[in-house]
Amino acid sequence: MTLIESARDMQGQAQAWRRAGRRIALVPTMGALHDGHLSLVRIARAEADITVVSLFVNPTQFGPAEDFAAYPRDSDGDRRLCEAAGVDALYHPAAAAMYAEDFSTWVNEESLSRDLCGASRPGHFRGVTTVVAKLFNAVGPDVAVFGQKDAQQALVIERMVRDLDYPVRVIVAPTVREADGLAMSSRNRRLSAEARQQAPALYRGLCRAREAFENGERRAAALEAVVAAELRAAGARLDYVTVVSRRTLRRGETVVAPALVAAAAFLGDVRLIDNLFLD
Ligand code: PAF
Repeated sequence: MTLIESARDMQGQAQAWRRAGRRIALVPTMGALHDGHLSLVRIARAEADITVVSLFVNPTQFGPAEDFAAYPRDSDGDRRLCEAAGVDALYHPAAAAMYAEDFSTWVNEESLSRDLCGASRPGHFRGVTTVVAKLFNAVGPDVAVFGQKDAQQALVIERMVRDLDYPVRVIVAPTVREADGLAMSSRNRRLSAEARQQAPALYRGLCRAREAFENGERRAAALEAVVAAELRAAGARLDYVTVVSRRTLRRGETVVAPALVAAAAFLGDVRLIDNLFLD
């Protein structure tokens, strides 16, 4: 596995692969890799000749009061996992190489990124789209693989790819869960023992809402109340819960499939997100 630390070197290597007729898949990550990431790597390897994993804890997608400093980091462990998973190149740029001191050019999606996490975390998606655009420019992938746990992020990136004509096929892969249903996330490493016990309430609540939907409940507020009650009972602090169209991410009083029930909650001081499809 090759370790690449600058955009220039990444572009040079990617160009050489392309000239040799190789198709490139990119799995963008912020590291602290887990089985969810490894499932994305498996998809990437099946879809292209070369798999690149990017590892960059992107400061611009964290707000000033958020957990950028505390975000889990384990670059040695990540390197070992990538190597064992058959990754061809790990693109691991330094923050200073990604953002010049006077960096001033941003990519901003203005519709799908407005609500849900966009409302709770102002500026978050501007940081995500900007860094993903930079990763696409460095790697030039044919395919990029993202996780469904970040459903809004996936939709925003698909929109960016369409609007800015990136020749990249975006694949959105199913969420990988722990045995008790908790969606795998790098942030799970930060949960206290107590918060880890509470955390499956997020998935449980979403499952109960999906069950209610399948039994005919179509009022968005009633479905949201099911999730909120489950989280409250577990002692979690709700950030948001919403039922939205999966195409527009807009909420209506009456749910029309294909829809998404999505929630964010604080377990202790760790904010987790999750979602399920309502079809
Ligand atoms: O999903 C993530 O880990 C990040 O938001 C991403 C896509 C790697 C951009 O920093």
